Amino acid sequence: MSVMKKKKLIAGNWKMNGSLAANEALLKALLQDIGAPACDVAVCVPAPYLAQVQALAAGSPIAVGAQDLSAQPQGAFTGEQSALMLKDFGVRYAIVGHSERRQYHGESDELVAAKTAAALANGITPIVCVGETLAQREAGETEEVVKRQLAAVIHVNGHCISEIVVAYEPVWAIGTGKTATPEQAQAVHAVLRAQLHHAASDHADGIRILYGGSMNAANAAELLAQPDIDGGLIGGASLKAPDFLQIIAAAR
Ligand code: 13P
Repeated sequence: MSVMKKKKLIAGNWKMNGSLAANEALLKALLQDIGAPACDVAVCVPAPYLAQVQALAAGSPIAVGAQDLSAQPQGAFTGEQSALMLKDFGVRYAIVGHSERRQYHGESDELVAAKTAAALANGITPIVCVGETLAQREAGETEEVVKRQLAAVIHVNGHCISEIVVAYEPVWAIGTGKTATPEQAQAVHAVLRAQLHHAASDHADGIRILYGGSMNAANAAELLAQPDIDGGLIGGASLKAPDFLQIIAAAR
């Protein structure tokens, strides 16, 4: 556990939701009541809305994030966005290796590691997602799965991993309303922390490990009170201003 207290990070993952009108209403509602939060705050928005949200959030405590990025610097990669393009829009964070991308787009541990490297090389903080499926948990493979996913990122990025954010998102808890208990989450976070210690001894305590998976206004405080839970990656509840604001307020 860290002796130096680090700021928690509360990041919303809007996934494929929003519209010009809905985003404006959501941002305005957040900005009206956010005040001076004790934690860092970000919203990871669909690529077409980066410019809009960047403009709305300019000068506010809300940083803008992307939900993915290309591992390639430029060129013939139809449909992809490079780290430099994201930089052009003031993007601070990029989610990498979300389970929905691993599942629906076949992203491998190696690709996730390469995307992490692309983000780091361009000053974008990657939020690297790891997590087991229900079948893997029931088979007792949770630790092995998350360690394998993180190991690939460590292998490619070496000591630079001190600049990453890790998000533990058990797949069975995403969008299901079935949250990991604080004890279940803490147990996995401790495993990840130990792995980070091994790889980046001096800096491991400074690396933020977020929890994601049905985190909401009612359960956030208890999860965030765990010693190795340094914030949250929030899907559904980040689309409702009052709920997201309550989670932000719980992160101190
Ligand atoms: P929910 O908060 O909707 O379960 O989504 C979690 C998630 O996948 C965040 O990246």
